[in-house]
Amino acid sequence: MEVSGKVALVTGAGSGLGRATALRLAARGASVVAVDVRAQSLETLREHVPADRLLVREASVADAAQVGQAVDEALAHFGALHIAVNCAGVADAAKTVSSKGQPFALETWEKVIAINLTGTFNVIRLAAAAMARQALDEGGERGVIVNTSSGAAWQGQVGQAAYSASKAGVIGLTLPVARDLAEHGIRVVTIAPGLFDTGMVAGLPAQVTQSIVDRMVLFPRRLGQPDEFASLVQVIVENAYLNATTLDLDAGTRLSAR
Ligand SMILES: NC(=O)c1ccc[n+]([C@@H]2O[C@H](COP(=O)([O-])OP(=O)(O)OC[C@H]3O[C@@H](n4cnc5c(N)ncnc54)[C@H](O)[C@@H]3O)[C@@H](O)[C@H]2O)c1
Repeated sequence: MEVSGKVALVTGAGSGLGRATALRLAARGASVVAVDVRAQSLETLREHVPADRLLVREASVADAAQVGQAVDEALAHFGALHIAVNCAGVADAAKTVSSKGQPFALETWEKVIAINLTGTFNVIRLAAAAMARQALDEGGERGVIVNTSSGAAWQGQVGQAAYSASKAGVIGLTLPVARDLAEHGIRVVTIAPGLFDTGMVAGLPAQVTQSIVDRMVLFPRRLGQPDEFASLVQVIVENAYLNATTLDLDAGTRLSAR
């Protein structure tokens, strides 16, 4: 699918991978519906994207009504929805039993699953329903959906039980959802990133990040840049033969326990 002239909804667009994706798709001529739970974080997109090709919407991906409204507004404003990119996510961590003997808080588990897994599916189902109602594009497709998992889906570190489970869930849903949507001309691909230089990683002490890079990243030995993620999203949109799969984007990273 050509990016230019299409309409893309990007969640988590206020920061990191989502922001880079919104900017790249807009730079290649797409109209962008930028969604984030933190409305303020979306405002700087206005400096980079022409006003007639940008809609910013405050919404939580875990909220059916809010995402439904964002999709409806995308259709009302731009007349179609061709691309949906799920980047919203949280990485709250705790050990299953803390060193002081406290069990993992169930509220934390429920929050991470609600945003990363249920939120991803919520966006998929509502975006796909809108895509399924529109005409085929010039390449015979109706839509492309890109999800964000993580290397932690397979190699979760200490404290990542909820995060890893949520990201493994995203990989798990990729094939059946792609099978469900094939008859509607919609492809579904998931990216499993390694460690990227975003707000999520900025919270870690610099020496911790450097130690992870030195010990676990194969080559090139550095954090990924958000635009390297965005460029893979672009490839997925453009290459019609990519479907129903999860692509690692991690410079050969193998996460150890800590
Ligand atoms: N940065 C990494 O190293 C890395 C590695 C693997 C996977 N990921 C995944 O990539 C995705 C993007 O993460 P990032 O690194 O850009 O982090 P980030 O913190 O920079 O950006 C995440 C964005 O999601 C938004 N968000 C959080 N909860 C939301 C909700 N309920 N509804 C809508 N928006 C919400 C946040 O406000 C934020 O703007 C996440 O799913 C993350 O798990 C990141």
